[in-house]
Formats: sequence, structure tokens, C-alpha cells
Amino acid sequence: MPKLEQPVPVEVVGAGYYLPERVLTNADLERMVDTSDEWIVERTGIHERRIADDSMSTSDMAVLASQKALAHAGLAAEDVDMIIVATVTPDMLFPSTACLVQRGIEARNAFAFDISAACTGFIYALATAYTYLASGYIGNALVIGAEKLSAITDYKDRNTCVLFGDGAGAVVLKRTGRKGHGICDFILESDGRNAHWLQVPAGGSRMPASTKSIGERLHYISMEGREVFKFAVTAMKRTTVRIAERNSLKAEDITWLIPHQANKRIIDAAAEALGLDQRRIHYNIHKYGNMSAASTAVGLAEVMLHNNLQDGDILLLVAFGAGMTWGSLLIRW
Ligand code: COA
Repeated sequence: MPKLEQPVPVEVVGAGYYLPERVLTNADLERMVDTSDEWIVERTGIHERRIADDSMSTSDMAVLASQKALAHAGLAAEDVDMIIVATVTPDMLFPSTACLVQRGIEARNAFAFDISAACTGFIYALATAYTYLASGYIGNALVIGAEKLSAITDYKDRNTCVLFGDGAGAVVLKRTGRKGHGICDFILESDGRNAHWLQVPAGGSRMPASTKSIGERLHYISMEGREVFKFAVTAMKRTTVRIAERNSLKAEDITWLIPHQANKRIIDAAAEALGLDQRRIHYNIHKYGNMSAASTAVGLAEVMLHNNLQDGDILLLVAFGAGMTWGSLLIRW
């Protein structure tokens, strides 16, 4: 896809996030499966993750994050034009989680839908919202990445259960008049040939829930970890370097890299390809693990709320995920 030649000023004007209080530590996991804190930290960089209570769904977390984002943006819920939720853990197959968020925050004048692009979902959702805004069809959008991955994680499988956590991040996008600011470019890519590397095999139309599917634990995440790792390093490096190069940005021009938080080694490989100083990388993997679409959403919200951004700062979001999907998105503050 070509670069956005004359981006319409679409800016991120509010952010919020929610993380469940309950912490699942590596020590807790040592008591559940054959693993060790040392192995998890060395291979992934994760120390702990947050787990939502049984009573809390993905949309509940998304509502809490959205209310904070709207308050931060100074936007009333009834003035929201569009809601997009990126998630692989919708409350149900239908209705969309976005419609449940609409009900939860009482955004009665919005239209709402979900995006399924796994861990790249939040970048896909931002890019989708951008195009609606740039076309003039709407004036603002609430864009959310929210996941309850604990609901689809097999806590008997040490290959996957150490990786994932729950949380939600939300931002408000608005068309503004500030030329040269806001979302200035994005790259979205996917390749379905290796869809089987990362999937939840049952529960959809191909394999509806049955006693057999439940007995075989097919409603949980199944992952070919080594294949995903190799793919992720290549894809993350490529999209990071490509978006920087085509926008004539050098490593030192990037204020914050906000990467998907699947594995610290994957993040560091992408940053290294660009020659980026580690202090410019926003990490939350040690605290929250991999929250799929929520990782970059919470990451962007954290940077906006806590990192004292200045006019002209450059934020670079990069992610990869099931599909396979991958992509990057550039924001000029
Ligand atoms: N604790 C201890 N040992 C574990 C373990 C755990 N939690 N999980 C796997 N192992 C074992 C494996 O069984 C394997 O043992 P073997 O050599 O006897 O077969 C060994 O550790 C090494 O496994 P390997 O898969 O080579 O480790 P790795 O260095 O590739 O790290 C991942 C494993 C999963 C952390 C890594 O492959 C990864 O991050 N992959 C990408 C996953 C991802 O990003 N998923 C989400 C996409 S959005």
C-alpha cells in the first residue's frame, strides 16, 4: 500500500485504559504448570499479568476504558459518532462487543462494529477510523482494543498460559484543523496461508461446540510458538523499517515506539532493526503480558497519559498477530 500523501488531520484527543486488579505472577504459574520464573522472564520478559474476574467480560473492561477516554477528550457519550472494538475475545459471537460498549456508555447516536485482526487489531481499527474520519463521513470515533484472553487460555498448557493477560485501552479520534498533526501514515498487511499457526480451533462454524471439542480442549488458544516467533521478528522488523523509511524518519526522530507486547525479544529485534535506543521503547509486557489488541491500545493510552508528550513528537505503533496480520501506524503529536 502506498504512503498517505496528504493526510487529513485526524488526531488522538483522549485516552483511557483499564486493567483488572487481580495479578497472576510467574510464581503462581509455577504452581499450575511445569515452568519457572527464570524460564518465563528469560524467554519472554513477562513477570506478571492481570486477570479479570469471572463476572467481568471484554465489553465491561472496554466500557471502563472508554469512559476514561471520553472524559479525557471532554466528549459526551451521546456525541460519539462511531465505535470500533478490536478484539478476539468478544463477549459473544454476536452481537458485536462494540454494540455492547455502546449500550454500556449510552452512546445512542453512534454506529458500532468490531474488527477481527487479532493482536494487530488496534492498528487496523485506528486505520479504519482514520479513513471514515478523513472521508468526512464522521467527526469523531471511539477506538478500543479490549481482551479477556484468560477466557480462551488453557491453564494446563505451559506453552501458552504464561503469555497472556486481560485489559482494555481506548482512544478518541477527531478530525482537527492542525495540518501535519495526527495519524500521518499506516501499513496494514496480512497473509492467510499460515492461519493455522495461531488459532482457537473450535466454537465457530467449522467446529461448533460439542462434548468432543470441549474434551479435546479445542476452545483454547493453540499456537505454533517457534513459527510465530520467526514470522514475528521478520514482520515487525520489516514494517517498522518500512514506515520509518517512507516517511524519511531516522531512529532518533522517533519519540516512542509502542509495539505489540508478545515477547520482549521480538520487540527488541524490531527496535534494533531501526537502530532505536531502548529508552524510546514503551514496554508494559513485564506487567501485563500479551493482551492481544489491548496491548497497543493500553500502550498508546499509557504514553499519552504519563509521558508528557510535546508538539511534534513522533509515536510509532507496530504489531503482528494471528491471521497472520501485521502493521504499523505513525502519529505526529
Ligand atoms: N516453561 C518452561 N519450559 C517451556 C515453557 C514454559 N512455560 N514453554 C515451553 N517450554 C519448553 C518447550 O517445551 C521446549 O522444550 P523442548 O526443547 O524440550 O521441546 C523449550 O521450552 C524451548 O521451546 P521453544 O519453543 O524453542 O522456546 P522459545 O525460546 O521459542 O520460546 C515462546 C517460546 C512461546 C516464548 C516463543 O516461541 C514465542 O514468543 N513465540 C511467539 C509467541 C507469540 O508471540 N504469540 C502471540 C502472537 S500475538
